Amino acid sequence: MESMTISQIMEKMIAFSDGNIYDIDHFIRVWTYARTIGELENLDRETQFLLEVAAITHDIACPLCRVKYGNTNGKYQEEEGVSMVKEFLSDTGIAEEVIDRVAFLVGHHHTFSGIDGIDYQILIEADYIANATENGYGQENIVNFMQKIMETEGGKQILKAIYPQYLM
Ligand SMILES: [Fe+2]
Repeated sequence: MESMTISQIMEKMIAFSDGNIYDIDHFIRVWTYARTIGELENLDRETQFLLEVAAITHDIACPLCRVKYGNTNGKYQEEEGVSMVKEFLSDTGIAEEVIDRVAFLVGHHHTFSGIDGIDYQILIEADYIANATENGYGQENIVNFMQKIMETEGGKQILKAIYPQYLM
């Protein structure tokens, strides 16, 4: 079976989100940043595809966590997300090792230690940029992330362009 395209996976994830516009807008924004940073960093095609799939699906456990735990605490999301994303991708024709890596990334997207690949690095950066603008993060938080976590040139340039008042 041919693997689904990014657009097909995007359509599937929007349908899966059941009209939750907040969640849909968030993962579309994370995907856009991840896609942009990935291309700026010249990822190979396979890694770029894997990164984009992870960006689209990274918060798949949010609705469940709101119901089950009453919040979207990062640790719960990571735990619940692994099996949910494997199930979600099981009929997409994506190779099993790619699904496993996506599931690993979904299961670690709030974990800033032990970043073990450019796909992981860019997912963290893209999600941070989207969350910073959505939640109005302050200067200290943003400067700290830039100095301690950011690695890619593309991610740094984008964060600087969004927050020129915080980042010179
Ligand atoms: Fe997120």
